[in-house]
Amino acid sequence: MSLKILEELQQRFTVPGVVFNTGEGGLKRIEVQTPAARGEIYLHGAHVTGYQPMGEQEMLFISAKSQFAVDKPIRGGVPVIFPWFGAKSDDARAPMHGFARLAEWEVQSIAPADDGGVTVDLRFLPPPNTSGSFPHAFELSYRVSFGKSLRLSLAVRNAGPASWKFEEALHSYFAVSDVRNVVVTGLENSQYISKTQNMQRQQQGDESLRITQETDRVYQNTTAACVIDDPGMGRRITISKRESRSTVVWNPWIDKARAMADFGDEEWPDMICVETCNVGENAVQLAGGAEHRMEAEIRSEKV
Ligand code: BG6
Repeated sequence: MSLKILEELQQRFTVPGVVFNTGEGGLKRIEVQTPAARGEIYLHGAHVTGYQPMGEQEMLFISAKSQFAVDKPIRGGVPVIFPWFGAKSDDARAPMHGFARLAEWEVQSIAPADDGGVTVDLRFLPPPNTSGSFPHAFELSYRVSFGKSLRLSLAVRNAGPASWKFEEALHSYFAVSDVRNVVVTGLENSQYISKTQNMQRQQQGDESLRITQETDRVYQNTTAACVIDDPGMGRRITISKRESRSTVVWNPWIDKARAMADFGDEEWPDMICVETCNVGENAVQLAGGAEHRMEAEIRSEKV
């Protein structure tokens, strides 16, 4: 990648603690380091790959086997999923989880945030070759604030006159000491579709969630915050959200980990995905000219 492009970006967006550089695979990356937090985001997919509040440990998991290439998603961090979740129902050749995580996003602005961190605004307009798989006029804006918490805000604007439907997810991968020893609360008494059990609809009882096998659950109609209690790491991660009615919880466990080329065979205990979404029956119907904004806020506390 041309160093000139990075230099130009650095000159256009001069903010203390913000550096544009070449990340893995030669992809463009923004690194942020302020008294509040350290973070990084790739323009490829608007993909947050690191977030560490000052004095604490890294909160996001990235696979050591992740690919970093223009035509591949990054494995870990926070993939941005749009406009469909999983495989596209009417087109098996369309990319899994949509095209937003495979596209290069544009920097709109970068500014100091009020909590001592930095806010990065990125934008994505549909490239011409997506028209067949998603023939709608739209614009995505994504605001990421690396501060005392990690704040993620994804806005989808319908730039045409007719209404259409989309799915979306902030597919966050959290680093944990051992997934078998964490407890996830916030999903009690919610219904979910279990992808590991033929898409059966199930009901979680009063109990909190423990991961004891491959888990791939699409919780529907839940706006609750989730908490990951991780005594092994001595921390509690809280994921709170707005305008999100689904939550996905995923851990591939042993066999699926082995089957994925971009995920280490032994890495499955080190992560859990708790994803802020609008998917399945919670897909969003967006009227012409309207905008929908989904937000997640991720914070940790020592316990
Ligand atoms: C989860 C899905 O959100 O993402 C899983 O529920 C999927 O079914 C996982 O396996 C990872 O998807 P991908 O496309 O990044 O391998």
